[in-house]
Amino acid sequence: MVKKVHPKLEEPVEAENWTEGIEQPLALLDQIDEDIASTAEIANHSVVSARQFSRQQLIQLCRLAAKFETQQSFGQFPLTGKILISAFYEPSTRTRLSFESVWHRLGGDIISITDPSTTGIAKGESLKDVAEMMNHYGDMVVLRDSNEKAIYEMLDVLRIPIINAGNGTDEHPTQALADLYAIIKWRPELMMDEVSEDQKITIGIIGNPSRMRTVRSLLLFLSRISQGINEVVIISNSTESFSPGQREELEAEGLKLRVTHDLESELPSFDITYINAIAWVGNTYEEHGIEYKLSKSSPLKKGSIILHPLARGEELSTDLDNTEHNWYFAQARGAVFARMALMSSLVRF
Ligand code: CP
Repeated sequence: MVKKVHPKLEEPVEAENWTEGIEQPLALLDQIDEDIASTAEIANHSVVSARQFSRQQLIQLCRLAAKFETQQSFGQFPLTGKILISAFYEPSTRTRLSFESVWHRLGGDIISITDPSTTGIAKGESLKDVAEMMNHYGDMVVLRDSNEKAIYEMLDVLRIPIINAGNGTDEHPTQALADLYAIIKWRPELMMDEVSEDQKITIGIIGNPSRMRTVRSLLLFLSRISQGINEVVIISNSTESFSPGQREELEAEGLKLRVTHDLESELPSFDITYINAIAWVGNTYEEHGIEYKLSKSSPLKKGSIILHPLARGEELSTDLDNTEHNWYFAQARGAVFARMALMSSLVRF
């Protein structure tokens, strides 16, 4: 059989405009005044938990992300000569690639470990000793580790900032920053001190806050904008949706929470539907709420958006990709700019 040239090879590579929510950072820039002092506060800090950030800092990080997103090219390279140590001991597509893309785009260099068994850890070296070495080899560490305590052990020894890229079932604060950036690009008014009743939103979260690090960190950030949220409805069949103290902490910040197992009757009221079905635990993953699925035929509210940290499975049908509800690709794209804002704010010279 004679092989033919694939039709895709006949055309130049071209970006298609097929998802909603990609280009709205200008609205955000218009509504929020710059306050450099807020981002300066986080310079030279490590980032382990979403609870480290105030609303004002989040507003300014999202504003800075929007500034990066609206730039056609990056004329400045603030990380020139700086080395990132990228340590990912768990699978990752988006987080690792976006962190490394950011560091490169801002002019820096990267050294990486993707498998701890290729390091002295395989010979019994302690994390503290590994961290001590890292002090001399790089200027910042990004760590993903299924052991939730590993980052805290390293924190004790490190004299350079470390960023949590996912620590077990505990937290994933930079994913939550990307989620928040997507939300406030969609509705910048949610960051204002006062949000009128008709602008307040209802958020549905299909997932388990006690087992999913993305959900845990997102809820902490949502608690910072609780003045703009009517209610967060957790859709879960689990008998233990919250870890001890988790719900109380969020409610103390003014976030109204409700847990139900009934997705179909709640879905038409959601302005944002966030869905995730996977929690990575140890060397494998747990599935949560796989009976809940979203597709084009789901009773979604008109104008509402869907967020998903990705990777997706059967819970999120690809038939939603070409609908107005698809903000999950914009969310993943925006993660680059959100991380750019964070990293350029953390490194001070
Ligand atoms: N959202 C997220 O953490 O994706 P990765 O596991 O691909 O990094």
